[in-house]
Amino acid sequence: MATTTMHAFAATFLIIIFFFNGFHLSYALSSHYYSKTCPKAEEAVTKAVKKAMSNDQTVPAALLRMHFHDCFIRGCDGSVLLRSSGNNTAEKDGPPNISLHAFYVIDHAKAAVEELCPGVVSCADILALAARDAVVLSGGPTWDVPKGRKDGRISKAIDTRQLPAPTFNFSQLTQSFSQRGLSTEDLVALSGGHTLGFSHCSSFQNRIHNFNTMNDVDPSLNPSFAQRLRKVCPIHNKVKSAGSTMDSTSTVFDNTYYKMLLQGMSLFSSDQALLTDHKAKGLVNKFASSQDSFNEAFVKSMIRMSSLSGGQEVRLDCKVTR
Ligand code: HEM
Ligand SMILES: *[C@@H]1O[C@H](CO)[C@@H](O)[C@H](O)[C@H]1NC(C)=O
Ligand SMILES: *[C@@H]1O[C@H](CO)[C@@H](O)[C@H](O)[C@H]1NC(C)=O
Ligand SMILES: *[C@@H]1O[C@H](CO)[C@@H](O)[C@H](O)[C@H]1NC(C)=O
Repeated sequence: MATTTMHAFAATFLIIIFFFNGFHLSYALSSHYYSKTCPKAEEAVTKAVKKAMSNDQTVPAALLRMHFHDCFIRGCDGSVLLRSSGNNTAEKDGPPNISLHAFYVIDHAKAAVEELCPGVVSCADILALAARDAVVLSGGPTWDVPKGRKDGRISKAIDTRQLPAPTFNFSQLTQSFSQRGLSTEDLVALSGGHTLGFSHCSSFQNRIHNFNTMNDVDPSLNPSFAQRLRKVCPIHNKVKSAGSTMDSTSTVFDNTYYKMLLQGMSLFSSDQALLTDHKAKGLVNKFASSQDSFNEAFVKSMIRMSSLSGGQEVRLDCKVTR
């Protein structure tokens, strides 16, 4: 009884702080959160990710990006997983959803986990675990994922405006990250997520056509790299699926992204922007020359990003609120 009251008190307190602080608040997450209530949860998630990956090699990149989008809007509360309903257009149907996909992997993982321990493990935690597994299974570093996130009930397409855009310059990126308590080091390390996956032409067309009044092509791009991008993405591109892999080893989690960035071979203005700040550029150099220091920084920053919280319940179906 006393503990129930304590919990009720703590919950009220947290809710009050939450309203004042928005998604800055992180709950006390713990690596052992489910060790009594659902010890096999992680194994079940990993199994679902592995199975999906074996059929579709685009899955890991999708899961990593999905987790980033989840965390940047209302904290990591599984809001990116909710589908549109009635009058509400959800985040996943918001503008930059162009390459969000593989939601089914989270649904399969959730179904497996519900079978083991119904109503215990949040969708937000399952997504955080799946993102970690995606990195590990692509050859990246591993880490203990702190757990105990709760799922939220709100998902609005309009909120996706809060995501950083690929056209952002360094100060805009810094602002977007610092609003979430994330540093320059977090920005540079997490941008390394662009070692995996694919981008559509629309996300980098600003750099390869009508860049500015002086240049058709962004002069910071390597010229032959730019020519290749222009070939796949002509100015009036009609092939909706056209685009480029994020780096030359886009299914492997490595530091090639930073090496290419230093050679003018990044896709987004937001990638290139990391070279316009002295401190950020120093970090790019460091990560380009050492896979180990990238791995170490990435893990640290993933744990920080994935501790942004916002929800209040454990959803039974990741797509809908009760
Ligand atoms: C720094 C600000 C960021 C910006 C402006 C940005 C922007 C983008 C854009 C525009 C795309 C391509 C979408 C498309 O055209 O298909 C993309 C893809 C991707 N992003 Fe980011 N991103 C950022 C940070 C991150 C972070 C923090 C992560 C994860 C740690 C991440 C992981 C990914 C991945 C894995 C893909 C490939 C997705 C796929 O292949 O399905 N990004 N990003
Ligand atoms: C949609 O909006 C209308 C009018 O605002 C409201 O009457 C209706 O209940 C809403 N439907 C849902 C499913 O929210
Ligand atoms: C992206 O949004 C469009 C509508 O804006 C929707 O038709 C499409 O299904 C969404 N994609 C995903 C993967 O949810
Ligand atoms: C970054 O972009 C913003 C918005 O377009 C602009 O106001 C600002 O001057 C830019 N900063 C730099 C350093 O170019």
